Amino acid sequence: MTLPKLCVPLSLLALALVAASPALRAVDAPANPLPHFETKDGRHAFIVDGAPFLMLGGQCNNSSAWPAALPGVWSAVERMGANTLEAPVYWEQFEPDQGHYDTTIVDTLVRQAREHRVRLVLLWFGTWKNGSSHYVPMWVKNNPAICPKIIGKNGMAVDSPSPHSAAGLEADSRAFAALMRHLKVADSAHTVILVQVENESGAWNSIRDYSPAAQALFEKPVPKVLMEALGLAGKAGADWAGAFGPNADEYFHAWSVGRYVGQVAAAGKAEYALPMYTNAALRDPINPGPAGTYESGGPTDNVLSIWKAAAPELDALSPDIYLSDSIKYRKVLDLYSRPDNPLLVPENGGSPAFARMFLAALGKGAVGWAPFGIDRGSDGYVPMVGSKPDEDPLAAVSLNYHLVGPIAREVARLNFEGRLQALAEDPSEHTKTLAFGRWQAGVTFGVPAFGFDREPKGNLDADGRVVVGQLGENEFLVTGHACRVDFRVADPGSKTQREYLRVEEGTYVNGAFRASRIWNGDQTDWGLNFGPAPVILRVKLGTY
Ligand code: DGJ
Repeated sequence: MTLPKLCVPLSLLALALVAASPALRAVDAPANPLPHFETKDGRHAFIVDGAPFLMLGGQCNNSSAWPAALPGVWSAVERMGANTLEAPVYWEQFEPDQGHYDTTIVDTLVRQAREHRVRLVLLWFGTWKNGSSHYVPMWVKNNPAICPKIIGKNGMAVDSPSPHSAAGLEADSRAFAALMRHLKVADSAHTVILVQVENESGAWNSIRDYSPAAQALFEKPVPKVLMEALGLAGKAGADWAGAFGPNADEYFHAWSVGRYVGQVAAAGKAEYALPMYTNAALRDPINPGPAGTYESGGPTDNVLSIWKAAAPELDALSPDIYLSDSIKYRKVLDLYSRPDNPLLVPENGGSPAFARMFLAALGKGAVGWAPFGIDRGSDGYVPMVGSKPDEDPLAAVSLNYHLVGPIAREVARLNFEGRLQALAEDPSEHTKTLAFGRWQAGVTFGVPAFGFDREPKGNLDADGRVVVGQLGENEFLVTGHACRVDFRVADPGSKTQREYLRVEEGTYVNGAFRASRIWNGDQTDWGLNFGPAPVILRVKLGTY
């Protein structure tokens, strides 16, 4: 009988054809919609080309967005399997003389990104870069009246720009608006999908500006809009010290910096309304220590609501995570994933420990993630921040991106719909249960591929990772690394038991699943075991 042999491939083909049918695609979507964020039921999606997008990113080193350094950047992007490059645009390069804009570098970035078939996130290194103002053009540096430094409590200037300078705000906004105006014309294809406004704004070495002008503002009533946003309308009219007591200095600086950055963003959006975010140099999320021991005034976790009120033009306030401790890392994810804030992690340290946390971020609904410093210096081996010289951080990130890359659109969509769970192995927990309505996915780390009766030991380097998405009531998309996933009926009192109706290995091509083989026998009898090679499974469950 030939029929049974034909049945399987024909049915797979039919399924693939149905999934690829144009009838299932939105017909009224504009041909080239502007990227934007959407929020529903407290969850967020980063919409690119009209559908949820998962940014598998990488950020180049600070001085690498120059044509001479870009070949090294692109080879890192390719090796990682990233779909997005984050690259700076330097104010000093973009506006070398006041009012004269040099678009050559940004044009090169856009052209080369298209050649490499990746998207771009541009980082506007304007008034602030890591709390200082080292990227302002020479004509600004030579005229301190435009961008004055803040004054510390001791009366000494601090290497950090004042957020109270109208001239600085005007100059920065004008330049940023010129950049966005140019992009609107030069990038109608939306290769650039997102823009970071400033970089780790705030101040090191002073909690705020204590100049006479800043002091006068500090003694005025706290703006009404902020009091209302914080639910303090009853205290209206109070000055900063009266309203916030010991936190007043820090909150004042956060509001002032947030207002400035928000207004720069607004000037850019008025030209071209791409989504925008800004990034934070974090404080320790568990033991933060007193103000002054971390960068003050940026969107640290304790002032997110102040920033939301100060800079509503920003779509996201995003943590740069250089804390390799997994408990702290997870705490940061908790603090920055809020109904009013999409989780985007634009910078991570470089060691493999960070790469694993990509899965934890996904599990918290992250719309994007990127390690910092993906290219190594042309003048020798420069390890990524946080990595050891003998580590290969790109390999660790590449493992994630090759695992999730082929299903990135599905993962982003399922996450937006609240039907995705992802996790990174925790060294102290070798077993996890993921709940999906009537089903549970049991995940174990450190079990052999055969046999039920072994106690999971965890992987030696705790590098297990798993992603499970619910495609339908009884249908799942599963991928993982160094783990076993086994489904079961959730109700312990149920008289029915799980049966694997069909487990297909395959990949997605243009939104349609293409099966390459069916798993059965040893590949399903002990659960679904994921080894080192990236594997994507579509699993249909039934009961007996
Ligand atoms: C955080 C900053 O945002 C990056 O630009 C870079 O300076 C890294 N720190 C690493 O030093």
